Amino acid sequence: MLKDINPTKTQAWKKLKSHFEEVSSTHMKDLFQNDKARFSNFSVLFEDILLDYSKNRIDKNTLPLLVELANECSLKDAIHAMFNGDPINATEKRAVLHTALRNISNNKVLIDGKDVMPDINRVLAQMKSFSEAIISGEWKGYSGKTINTIVNIGIGGSDLGPVMVTEALKPYKIPHIETYFVSNVDGTHISEVLKKVDAETTLFMIASKTFTTQETMTNAHSARDWFLYNGGSESAVKNHFVAISTNASAVAEFGIDTKNMFEFWDWVGGRYSLWSAIGLSIACSIGYDNFEKLLSGAHAMDNHFKEADFKENLPVILALLGVWYNNFFGAESHALLPYDQYMHRFAAYMQQGDMESNGKYVDRGGKKVDYQTGPIIWGEPGTNGQHAFYQLIHQGTKLIPCDFMAPAISHNQLGDHHEKLLANFFAQTEALMNGKTEDEVAAELGGLSIEEADQLKPFKVFEGNRPTNSILFKKLTPETLGSLIAMYEHKIFVQGVIWNIYSFDQWGVELGKQLAKQILPELRSEDEVTTHDSSTNGLINAYKVFRNN
Ligand code: F6P
Repeated sequence: MLKDINPTKTQAWKKLKSHFEEVSSTHMKDLFQNDKARFSNFSVLFEDILLDYSKNRIDKNTLPLLVELANECSLKDAIHAMFNGDPINATEKRAVLHTALRNISNNKVLIDGKDVMPDINRVLAQMKSFSEAIISGEWKGYSGKTINTIVNIGIGGSDLGPVMVTEALKPYKIPHIETYFVSNVDGTHISEVLKKVDAETTLFMIASKTFTTQETMTNAHSARDWFLYNGGSESAVKNHFVAISTNASAVAEFGIDTKNMFEFWDWVGGRYSLWSAIGLSIACSIGYDNFEKLLSGAHAMDNHFKEADFKENLPVILALLGVWYNNFFGAESHALLPYDQYMHRFAAYMQQGDMESNGKYVDRGGKKVDYQTGPIIWGEPGTNGQHAFYQLIHQGTKLIPCDFMAPAISHNQLGDHHEKLLANFFAQTEALMNGKTEDEVAAELGGLSIEEADQLKPFKVFEGNRPTNSILFKKLTPETLGSLIAMYEHKIFVQGVIWNIYSFDQWGVELGKQLAKQILPELRSEDEVTTHDSSTNGLINAYKVFRNN
């Protein structure tokens, strides 16, 4: 069990508050001027991944104080409890063991005295032989043709991870397999995908931990109807539909042979599940060996997280800096800005990971917190973001800490594209840190009259002092991507421990689901709806007028 410790009542929190008073108005420019070794003092290398956190509003005392906070919040014990299979997801009485899914060193991981590794290895072997049969063409569709198209039907954690990874690892794509993802219950999503695929050569993966999620079940039924309408038969469903789930009875009820089911377990959280059978679409798109490399990169980060001193520990450093801005500077959001087009879904993926985990206002003692918990996570790839929202990061009224990420080597060495991309990557964090002073602006406006220059000056000044982390890695390989994802997963975990919340449940998504179930039959009748507040009644009744006229 994780302890119930209010972080604001710790000694370290008090010290951090007074430390904040001392350093919050210091400009990072001065910190750099006063410490010529600031880069080496505030950067850590893990394998091919360099984290430079020197462009943060911290001095040499900040991280040690934040580490004191982590220690007072029993972070070491919490890390041990998670890896050890303790039921740290207390409201669901479950262990949290996505780390076991990538435990390629295969040492025992026990839940209630039972080693989970044999089951994990069995499903990995099943994924290996299945993905190899698909890729080699040994697995045939009902007409004897080989499968060349995968459609993964899932939502949230059963979609975002596979989407993000298959996009990020496109350079490793098996050329003759196309993979599509359908998540939204909006019929447009599946309709557009079905227009592009052929029933004889398509395999549907129904990915749902619970196998009850409305969106996924609706899409799965529509896919099966489409399959039957387009030449498939009931007996051919087994060649074209597989299920990935923890719920064997619901899979059987849907009509998928449980021989074609890839199992995972309730101790895998949906948003942490890409390492499980939920990654089957990944294994079929990039090959099982590359999927295994993804697991091994994550495993290496797991070991680093478990063993490295907190001051040298990438996930811990990122988490503590996040707490610093969230709870002391009052920052409300955090931007993830990959300078890699292949990572274009990375922020969307981590958004679920972070916001569904740490978007909680009740602490582990069941009381409402009186401090801030999880931030808003958002972002888009650079350089596109520069031409969209960076204005606000540079000159807006909000403090937005950002993580900039970039590979040193591109998969597409095209002319000087990559140098230009990286020039922007380096320039942005420098600009956000330094800003531009009045004097610098004045020098630039030399050609204008004094009056004109004075008028323009305030608009062209940048205060700077905007914090960033730079995460520079050698190349976006499966191993590196695995390590990066695991790094952010553990960052989220550390923050949840400090904020004294339960990061692995998600009760907050239930209310909307329940109400949608109540409203659905009301939409099916023509009667006027009067059971809700006047806004909801009004909207539903207006919808009925629109649809009928
Ligand atoms: O609605 C939230 C959620 O429960 C997520 O946590 C999960 O990733 C998603 O729905 C999908 O759930 P399932 O895999 O059970 O269909």
